[in-house]
Amino acid sequence: MGKELASATARWLHIDAAFARPEIVAICDIDETARQWFQTHVPTCKMVSDNPEDLISHNDIDGIYCAVPHHLHADLYVRIIQAGKHLLGEKPFGIDQDANARIVAAAEARPDILVRSSSEFPFYPGAQAVIHSLEEAAMGQIISVRARFLHSSDLDPNKPINWKRLVKFNGQYGCMGDLGLHVMHIPLRFGWEPKRLVAQLSNIVSERPDSQGHLVPCETWDNASIHGIIEGHGCSFPITLETKRIAPGEMNSWEIEVDGTRRSVAYSTKNPKTLRIMDYEDGGVQDWKHRDLGYSSAYKAITAGIFEFGFSDSLLQMWAAYLDELVHGRDKMTQPFHCATPQETVASHRVMSKALQNALS
Ligand SMILES: NC(=O)c1ccc[n+]([C@@H]2O[C@H](COP(=O)([O-])OP(=O)(O)OC[C@H]3O[C@@H](n4cnc5c(N)ncnc54)[C@H](O)[C@@H]3O)[C@@H](O)[C@H]2O)c1
Repeated sequence: MGKELASATARWLHIDAAFARPEIVAICDIDETARQWFQTHVPTCKMVSDNPEDLISHNDIDGIYCAVPHHLHADLYVRIIQAGKHLLGEKPFGIDQDANARIVAAAEARPDILVRSSSEFPFYPGAQAVIHSLEEAAMGQIISVRARFLHSSDLDPNKPINWKRLVKFNGQYGCMGDLGLHVMHIPLRFGWEPKRLVAQLSNIVSERPDSQGHLVPCETWDNASIHGIIEGHGCSFPITLETKRIAPGEMNSWEIEVDGTRRSVAYSTKNPKTLRIMDYEDGGVQDWKHRDLGYSSAYKAITAGIFEFGFSDSLLQMWAAYLDELVHGRDKMTQPFHCATPQETVASHRVMSKALQNALS
């Protein structure tokens, strides 16, 4: 992910975001090959280190994007914040609830530091269109919400194990820790945190080859389906949150569907430029429409509206939102959708922890 952010930074000219110009002046990785990649590809980089402290203590660094395995989140994020550096961290923002609480306490002690979690899918034009529909209160009464994030490469039992399949590095949440904030970001932004839920977790492939080809335990949950109820403000509706590493044929499909009595909207990155939408009046025809949105991004880009938007565009947009908030403050951003907050990560940990308890009880 560090390389992805470096690429987004190199593409800054792509968007209309003259309020800031990020420059990568230093990078850190314990892996020599990764360090060499940054040295070769990021000409602005003046320092390359294998020790995070070199960045954390450096006076010329204003902020750090930290994308490391989950067991390192709490120690590194807390050090970065306490050193007075702005932080764009990665989800799940701590390997478990305790780690998350440590990070959030550090963030709350430094309100002068902008602390946000990466979560880029809400910046797809279709996701933004869903958000706008929800903001316009165009939905009528909400009937149900479904958000999913689906991968499939783990269907191959011969795919070698990596840190994301080991509890020690990825955490007990398994696929939820990896993918959960991605599906919860928009629901949580609208206050939809299921307080009551049931969860189904499955570990489908229980062994995988290691780098030498020996079969070793693959401990983490592959798939999770959380079914909850959203209650309050005179409404009650079901929400389904699915995170799957083994969803046959799905390659990084991020989806959201919100059905309402007046409007239903659905978007999937599988068809990146198309929003499905159904407006309804009593007794009227029920016909879903397919609206091509093209490249209608939160931050205007040089790409013409007729072209497709993709994963790397969503990261660039998210990066712009982070810097927009840093420069202007949350209330004066040039567009209103800000990155996931520490409090939203706290809510995501509550949901994932409840799901674990529910599935294991
Ligand atoms: N936003 C997204 O779409 C997205 C996608 C994938 C991963 N992630 C998140 O990004 C984070 C990293 O995941 P990844 O897929 O990039 O993992 P990765 O394994 O590809 O990269 C992690 C890097 O961290 C380095 N590293 C490990 N320990 C270190 C240490 N002590 N100091 C410095 N560097 C160290 C590794 O050498 C490696 O290069 C995780 O939190 C993951 O959940 C986010």
